[in-house]
Parts: sequence; C-alpha cells; structure tokens
Amino acid sequence: MRALAPEEIPLQPSTTNPQVKGAQPARPSLRLGVLLSGRGSNFLAIAESIRSGKLQGVEISIVLSNVADAPGIAAARDLNLPTAVFVSKGRPRAEHDADLIACLHDYKVDVVILAGYMRLLSPQFIAAFPNRILNIHPSLLPAFPGLDAQQQAFDYGVKVAGCTVHFVDERLDHGAIILQRTIAVLDTDDAHSLADRILAEEHIAYTEAIARIASGEYEIRGRRYLKR
Ligand code: GRF
Repeated sequence: MRALAPEEIPLQPSTTNPQVKGAQPARPSLRLGVLLSGRGSNFLAIAESIRSGKLQGVEISIVLSNVADAPGIAAARDLNLPTAVFVSKGRPRAEHDADLIACLHDYKVDVVILAGYMRLLSPQFIAAFPNRILNIHPSLLPAFPGLDAQQQAFDYGVKVAGCTVHFVDERLDHGAIILQRTIAVLDTDDAHSLADRILAEEHIAYTEAIARIASGEYEIRGRRYLKR
C-alpha cells in the first residue's frame, strides 16, 4: 500500500466534548468550526445531532458568519456557542479569510463546516485546512453546481434530485464526494417543495458525513472518498 500524503491522513481529534448529552465519550472530540451566512438550518441540525448524542465524538468550537444579522449566528448565540462575525462586504477576500483562519486556529478547529456560507474561499483558506473543509450542496453533483441548484434541477426536469456533502477544493462545488442522498422528483412538485424535501435530506446527510469523518475510518484516493 502506498504512503498517504499529509492531507490524506484521517483526522486525529484533539479535545474532550462538553456538548454531548449524557455520558462523555472516552476518546477526544473532533472540533468543528461552522461558517454560515444565512438561516443556519444545517448548522442547527448538526448541533441537535450532537446534543442528542446521535453525532458522537464531535463538538462545535466556534460558529462564524460573514453576515452580521444572519439568523444562523443568532441561533448559535441562543445555544450559548462561541460565535464571531467578520463582515466580508467590501473587504479583499484574502484579507477577510486571514481573519477567519486566525480565529479558527484560536479555537483549535480540526474541521471547517460550510453551512450555507455564501462566499468563495481563498486559496490560502483552503491550503490552511487541506481536506478539512466540508460543504453541503443541494444537488447531486456534478449536476447543477452554483446558485439556485434546486431551481436548476427542477427546470431541467430531472426525476431524481438530492444533496451532496463533499470536501472543498479550489473549484466551486467540486471536491471529493463523501456522500449523496437522493429523492424522487414528484409530478406535483414545484421548485419550493423540491427544495424543502432536499433540505430535509441535507439535515440527515451532514450529520452522517461528519460522523464518517470523525470516525477517521476513510481515505481519499484522487477524487474518491473511500471507507476503510
Ligand atoms: C443549503 O441548501 C445548502 O445546501 C446550501 O445553502 C443552503 C443553506 O441552508 N449550501 P441553511 O442556512 O443551512 O438553512
């Protein structure tokens, strides 16, 4: 078997977990840094999975937003999680991202979770967390990358839709796929009902993908995420 490059080595979690309900796991927690710009329903689904014990060995170290009044950041405050806002509007991307990187390092974040973070990341950011950034996208990639993916899928007339959790690389909605969940598109759907049903799958998919990453039982070969 060939030696793994540093970015292919599965994660080694770093601390103990204060957020899980009931008994604490014996092994250390994987520390998540969540980035969001909007309503934050994926963030809340992850937080609930941790609280309920469905997602073990994981804690949320910090929730960051680039939008001051994002409902997701208010929800994080309500949960008494550490939060920070770095307003991105009008700032050079590299300069803004340097602030994010410093904050994520301060909070000893192992894995960055993009949960509706509506801003491209700089190459410097991606290099700071190689294969340690996850994104969720509301389509079956590589179909319908970019904005309004559910509307794109609906307008195209697909019969199967879904969501994708993937590692983030330098290209938009492009990195190695961790998992996808599918749903049938119904004749009675409109773009909104389709988006709602995809969102319900997203909430399941992100928890499952993070659990897989936290297990450390995987490797990345080229574009392929493989369970071990
Ligand atoms: C989700 O549809 C996600 O797939 C996309 O942005 C949306 C964020 O929704 N990347 P929410 O803020 O998590 O509710």
